[in-house]
Amino acid sequence: MCGIVGAISKDRNILPILITGLKNLEYRGYDSAGVAYLKNNKINIIKTRGKVNKLENKLNKNEISNIGIAHTRWATHGKATSNNAHPHRYKHITIVHNGIIENYEEMKNTLLKEKYSFKTDTDTEIAAGLLNYYYEKFNDINKVIKEFMNKVIGSYAIVIMIDNDVDNLYCLKKESPIVIGINDNINIIASDIRAITKYTDKYYTLNDYEYAKVNINDIIIYDKDNNIIKKDIKEYKEENNNNSKGHYKHYMLKEIMEQKETIYNTVKPYINSIGSLLKLPDLTKYKEISIVGCGTAYHAGLVAKYLFEELTNTRCNVYLASEYRYQNNFLSKDTLTIFISQSGETADTISALKLVKSKNYPTLGIINVKETTISSLVDTCLYTKAGNEIAVASTKAYTAQISILSLLVLVTGYRNKTINENKVLEVLNEFKDIDNLVTPLLNKKNTYLSIAKKIYKEKDIFYIGRGLDYYLSMEGALKLKEISYIHSESYAAGELKHGTISLIEKNTKVLSSATNTKLNSKTISNLKEVLARGADIYLITDENYKDDTFTIINIPKASYFIKPILVIIPYQLIAYYTALLKGTNIDKPKNLAKSVTVE
Ligand code: F6R
Repeated sequence: MCGIVGAISKDRNILPILITGLKNLEYRGYDSAGVAYLKNNKINIIKTRGKVNKLENKLNKNEISNIGIAHTRWATHGKATSNNAHPHRYKHITIVHNGIIENYEEMKNTLLKEKYSFKTDTDTEIAAGLLNYYYEKFNDINKVIKEFMNKVIGSYAIVIMIDNDVDNLYCLKKESPIVIGINDNINIIASDIRAITKYTDKYYTLNDYEYAKVNINDIIIYDKDNNIIKKDIKEYKEENNNNSKGHYKHYMLKEIMEQKETIYNTVKPYINSIGSLLKLPDLTKYKEISIVGCGTAYHAGLVAKYLFEELTNTRCNVYLASEYRYQNNFLSKDTLTIFISQSGETADTISALKLVKSKNYPTLGIINVKETTISSLVDTCLYTKAGNEIAVASTKAYTAQISILSLLVLVTGYRNKTINENKVLEVLNEFKDIDNLVTPLLNKKNTYLSIAKKIYKEKDIFYIGRGLDYYLSMEGALKLKEISYIHSESYAAGELKHGTISLIEKNTKVLSSATNTKLNSKTISNLKEVLARGADIYLITDENYKDDTFTIINIPKASYFIKPILVIIPYQLIAYYTALLKGTNIDKPKNLAKSVTVE
């Protein structure tokens, strides 16, 4: 993962630009950070463990430079230490890198034979060594980069500074993204446009195996055979995104609260009438739907599977992107594969997509961020309108994903006649009224806080449910564990008695939802089973249960197309308030990153 920035300017101090750029890229990782810049004609490197703020504090405020590179890291090879932080330097070459050099052991052994020695545990230091080796051999940077790209296996976006060539930055890429922003007095290289939009809206993107030489006068882009290529300049159009925390303590809470608008914004183009709904792609021409995603996006896929299969009789399989590439997926032209991703840059999802594309099978993307690798590769892309999701734990992107997926199910059912017109109109009206359905749930702070007070000291928490409620419990458990660090797992309620129930003891906390008329009585029986073993139960339901042995959170009645939204909001807020009581770093939980750009 990691975020990289490089900047060069005629007359501006680039150090604040590098720091601002890194702060905007912290969603890609934030365990250590570093910067290399030209000072008195020498490259000076400052690194630290921790977030970009710490690096900023370490930098002398009066320091000025007009060329430099910087990095925010999510550790892959080697612990999150200052020593392993980037930039890495080998003699003449200093680099920052996003990606993984898969054959770094082999490269290292080659270099060790050439009497090279290394001080860190990173694959990036080996990459710096290899670039230095070729630099000393060829003394020609075009040959160096070409040879490097020929020899190295893996993914990389690299920005290079060279001791004897301090007027230029060089950048190269394979599989990890690079943009180059252009302005009259500054050129900026970065992992994505968020790092450059404060300074320019004009930029180039590089394709795999392309590289560029960037200086104050020019940006020269080459293909892998060292031919100069002409590329179109792209223009970034600012979305109306409010990136401030407003009066909220955390982005996560703000984003949860925003769901009353973001769900509506996402479905708005399709809910005015049946005619608007029919603007969505026709999935009835496929025999089967496959859905691929990671984490929360995968959970959104599971909700869609349930709805497709139960309500439209359409077969649907959901796959974890990290597994997809390494299994037999029985693909054919009659299967539509849907790729769900908030960021559009998740490496596992991209790899799975490339696999499907390599066979020329149909693809559809459900993506939140514009101009991403996934949105550019899929045949058709539907955008969720969740706006910038800044908190690492995904909330509003998830409800936007399940909303658009619900509409895809609805239109499929209308087209294949498994859902009648009245039902379609009823669901469209529910979406039109979504604000009134979700606002009362968002406002039940005291309920969630009182549950949080009961669970925040626990070590293990169980989430159980059946059918759709099981899939929602997976997302509920993920939310809790990722931000509160409490071990929480979800289980199909009926499966507990086949093993897991042995873990239930007096006061074990069990969270559940029962919102399926067909299955509720069974779920309640399973809850009684854990109650009999001493569990303390919290139940989200749209039924009118009167059972004071459970703590009940009532949600409004709604169709199956809306229910998932209403169940997940209490789960999200219970997770939030539990983490708040634990005092964790809610927006940037340990070990995580917003965009997972390594496999
Ligand atoms: C959990 C979370 C992650 C992401 C996953 C996929 O809150 O945010 O599980 O959902 O890393 O990310 P995207 O959707 O960007 O592909």
